[in-house]
Amino acid sequence: MFLRNTWYVAAWAKDVGREMTGRVYLNEPVVLYRKENGIAVAVSDRCPHRFAPLHMGQLKGDAIECPYHGLRFDDAGSCVLNPHGDGKIPSGARLRSYPLVERHSLIWIWMGDAAKADASLIPDYGFLSDDTRGTVGGYLAIEANYELLTDNLMDLSHGQFLHASFMQTNDFVNGKHEVLQVGTTVHSNQWVPNGSPQAAYGSDLATGNVDQWWDIRWMPPSVMVLEVGMTPVGQPRDAGKRTLSAHLLTPETETSTHYHFANSRDFRTKDPEMDERIRAWQRGGFAGQDKPMIEAIQKMMGTTDLMSLRPVLLPVDSAAVRARRILAGLVEAENAREPGRKAEAAVA
Ligand code: FES
Ligand SMILES: [Fe+2]
Repeated sequence: MFLRNTWYVAAWAKDVGREMTGRVYLNEPVVLYRKENGIAVAVSDRCPHRFAPLHMGQLKGDAIECPYHGLRFDDAGSCVLNPHGDGKIPSGARLRSYPLVERHSLIWIWMGDAAKADASLIPDYGFLSDDTRGTVGGYLAIEANYELLTDNLMDLSHGQFLHASFMQTNDFVNGKHEVLQVGTTVHSNQWVPNGSPQAAYGSDLATGNVDQWWDIRWMPPSVMVLEVGMTPVGQPRDAGKRTLSAHLLTPETETSTHYHFANSRDFRTKDPEMDERIRAWQRGGFAGQDKPMIEAIQKMMGTTDLMSLRPVLLPVDSAAVRARRILAGLVEAENAREPGRKAEAAVA
């Protein structure tokens, strides 16, 4: 179940260059590269002749030369050279091209109707490209449906258990949890008073017990911003420190996801030791604990239809369930507007 007329994160901007990158989004193979003028572009990665992956070919200026029989395509998807026969360009020799926008250190892609691609709809991740902040990010390929990752992020109570080695707090489940919906945005706010600080930030931010908050907001289809903060017990939030994190999910297929993430702080900004501490958490927590758990859950479920398994629901699930409902409604509305879509999706 995918929403198509929306922006997804395709890649970190730094990871796209003059080498072609082949990736799959929403079951469609796409090749990304930068033109000689530095502008990033995306076209279908599937040659319309014999379906060779074009990212295995070469760039000739701004055009892609297919590695199999040498048809060349420009960045708009038009075939510009046929080295065979009389050189006539066959009418079907076209690639789909995808709208891309480079913003906030990320490249965003529009997988739906190109005429509807409106860059003003890209959510604000300006903190990622703010040079005054210290930002550490990465990427993980996850073998699971993207909504399972949304569930994981919108219910941070798993931190106390799955991430016990990092969190060093037993206070999570005793905190106050509130879920709010504003338009199609879901807020899941966790308040943990008078607990021990998280190990990732440690005693630099506070000595002794702290009041902590973990406020995450989800925006359709699958992007989140998490604010984690701590302040001396009883003090206002502004007396403490906070970090902002981006959690950006892009479906590769029904059962695999591109996960781009970053943590950004406004303290100890140019401090490699602090960077490494955050990286250790991203490696140990995300790659070492979240990824294997979510992948094992996907296998155990054997389906992407969570609700068909009639899961036991706990109060901590309320934000994730709300996000799932909003997304399902948006997909349904999109399919209703474009009736051919459902049949197409079923065939894919
Ligand atoms: S497969 Fe691309 S030119 Fe033949
Ligand atoms: Fe986690």
